Amino acid sequence: MSVLDRIGQKLLFTFDPETAHGLSIAALRCGLPVGSRTARDARLKVSLCGLDFPNPLGMAAGYDKNAEVPDALLGLGFGFAEVGTVTPSAQPGNPKPRIFRLPADEAVINRLGFNNEGHAAAEKRLVGRKGRSGIVGVNIGANKDSADRVNDYERGVIRFAPYASYLTVNISSPNTPGLRTMQAREQLGELLSRVMAARAAAARQPPVFLKIAPDLVEAELEDIAAEVTHKAIDGIIVSNTTISRPALRSSGAASETGGLSGRPLFERSTIVLARMRRLLGPDMAIIGVGGVNSAETALEKIRAGADLVQLYTGMIYAGPALPGRIVAGMAHFAETERLKSISDLRDRHLDQWVSRPLN
Ligand code: FNR
Repeated sequence: MSVLDRIGQKLLFTFDPETAHGLSIAALRCGLPVGSRTARDARLKVSLCGLDFPNPLGMAAGYDKNAEVPDALLGLGFGFAEVGTVTPSAQPGNPKPRIFRLPADEAVINRLGFNNEGHAAAEKRLVGRKGRSGIVGVNIGANKDSADRVNDYERGVIRFAPYASYLTVNISSPNTPGLRTMQAREQLGELLSRVMAARAAAARQPPVFLKIAPDLVEAELEDIAAEVTHKAIDGIIVSNTTISRPALRSSGAASETGGLSGRPLFERSTIVLARMRRLLGPDMAIIGVGGVNSAETALEKIRAGADLVQLYTGMIYAGPALPGRIVAGMAHFAETERLKSISDLRDRHLDQWVSRPLN
């Protein structure tokens, strides 16, 4: 980390996490020179679901919930940015405080509860960037008080299909009561049927990804894999935050309710990723997310079966130069290992990760 980054992160850490997040969005919105642009490297390109990613590292959902700064994120070096989760109506989310830092673990617990400005506000911003290059996915969700949650997803597809490079169906946030039960086979089948029908009816058909939780047992993973295959979903994102609490160094905040992200999530989310790769086969698109904070952890997600990788919490601790550093580190690795493409690494450690226990 450079001295400037260190000062920047120290300063942000004097604020509560949510204020710090707001300040970082404001800095990106103003075009402050945060982070560093990295040169493109042909070996990092990934073609997936008809999209050409300049590199395999993306910004995960939840950072830019309202689609305020996707282009600034791409400017930090990310190969793609996922905005949202957006719900049809604006909603305030849970009472504050609702984000907690666990510095000793380089982790965060959040129970935001889909606070966002709603579809219309995000759509307005995405209309404003129409025609720009850069891959921007839109992560869609359901309002907490919705009478028909499946319909909220259909509305998300209809609303954002014209603008989204891809759509992510997020049913894995632990902070909207009952949401994760949509991962159960019967409910999931109905949801995916209706989502895919809504996409088929749209004028433009972006790929649809399903984002799943890391807190699923093997039988549940098998059900999800069967439905994803049956309904011809384009890919899956593994994973959202965990409600489990793997051995943590931090006390205090560790007992807060919510989803845990960051370094302690790496192991579990990578095991689930590998198991899904095994269940879904080599042709399904899989995005690995959870605990990525370095080129090495990003590369390991690919070795475990990921085509692409995302991060969020790593940047809270390492600052906005992290994506550029990881992408440069991946390019350096490709060079020293004489890889033609970074995707050549895919599945190299699949067996190893599949065989690890999920606890
Ligand atoms: C998230 N994440 C998230 N995911 C999602 O699909 N929709 C969302 O709105 C949010 N919101 C959100 C807020 C905060 C504060 C955090 C830390 C995370 C989950 C995120 O996209 C990612 O799946 C996990 O955080 C795991 O990756 P990292 O953070 O360990 O790199």
